[in-house]
Amino acid sequence: MGALESKKIVLGVTGGIAAYKAVEIASRLRKAGAEVHVIMTKEATQFVTELTFREITGQPVSVDMWGKVANFNVEHIALANLADLVLIAPATANIMAKIAAGIADDMLSTTVLATKAPVMLAPAMNTNMYENPITQRNMSELRQRGMQLIEPAAGHLACGIEGKGRLPEPVTIVQEVMDFMTGEQPLKSRKIIITAAGTIEPLDPVRFLGNHSTGKMGYAIAAEAARQGADVLLVSGPSALPNPAGVRMKRIQTAREMQAAVEAEYAQADAVIMSAAVADYRPKTVAAEKIKKSDDELVLHLERNPDILWGLGQQKQQQVLVGFAAETCNVEEYAKKKLTKKNLDFIVANDVSAKDAGFAVDNNRVQLYFRDGRTEKYPLMAKSELAKVILDKLAAILP
Ligand code: PMT
Repeated sequence: MGALESKKIVLGVTGGIAAYKAVEIASRLRKAGAEVHVIMTKEATQFVTELTFREITGQPVSVDMWGKVANFNVEHIALANLADLVLIAPATANIMAKIAAGIADDMLSTTVLATKAPVMLAPAMNTNMYENPITQRNMSELRQRGMQLIEPAAGHLACGIEGKGRLPEPVTIVQEVMDFMTGEQPLKSRKIIITAAGTIEPLDPVRFLGNHSTGKMGYAIAAEAARQGADVLLVSGPSALPNPAGVRMKRIQTAREMQAAVEAEYAQADAVIMSAAVADYRPKTVAAEKIKKSDDELVLHLERNPDILWGLGQQKQQQVLVGFAAETCNVEEYAKKKLTKKNLDFIVANDVSAKDAGFAVDNNRVQLYFRDGRTEKYPLMAKSELAKVILDKLAAILP
């Protein structure tokens, strides 16, 4: 029996030179036991014919929303409903932009918007298009929405340049599909509390003290933990990011609100991952009316906020505790001190003085320090990838 026996996969093929590789992807998926339904964009039909996919899959191929349909049904809804997985390979910058914006103007984008099945995309395009901040932003949006992106390969591209943007080999893509579809859920039913973004501390009705955290790191961990089967409570400071799929959200503003939300579920939790940038201090008094400017200096008196993680470390029972350390110097020394002082199992140290990592970007470069003295150093990687690393380490420690 094939690894994908009885799975129904909708394979979206978009208009890039790599569309020819989708024929082999369809064939391998079928050989693995899947029922494959192909949806092509009009542009894809310039590269490969519908007939090729019909012969390979043994199923009708959809292109047009208004053409003749094989069965009387609203076809895009029918495909959206029957799919166990929607795989788009190759995925052009265009289809990713449309999905990120919620546009549904052809059969494929409409099916994606209508489906509740997981969506995987294998981006393939020219390196400059891939690296364009607009494409990167769209991919980040898709990841935040819980979609799986298969990393493109680097190498010689059809446009004649060397760089990232090649569609990985069909065998690699089908392996990723099999891992995803049959993959175990290492965190199944584990209760994990994750904190994200920065807390803000009001000064008066219109001003606050805050920091640069956007929530990208914590939301990536929450999305991945949910995908791995965990029951996730995401406690987030103000963030513009959408709620990750499958998590319970608690939006808060201040450090004390974050503490209350975390402590309310701490006793039952298997783990807490504190990626939030919590304000250490808050204004001693919050003015009832907007503070008026004058010619004098304005002196603010701040008082200490609770150290949430330290408090959790004091009450620790079965819970695995993971902290973050945002440092601008002496990263190792300060991270190790926090690991011990807060009674953590491991700490993720990031040097937030680096421009390409840390606050408000999609990547991070970290070093992990474990309770037993182990240290692991990682290169710059997408926060979504780092989330998998952190959760792997967590799963290995969970009792
Ligand atoms: O949100 P992004 O834009 O993606 O940015 C991600 C990030 C840089 C914010 C994240 O990777 C990160 O480093 N988070 C921790 C930031 C921080 O506040 O570090 P800290 O060294 O001040 O605190 C150490 C640990 O104690 C952290 O786990 C923190 O959540 C926790 N803490 C800190 C202060 C406090 N009063 N209570 C706490 O629980």
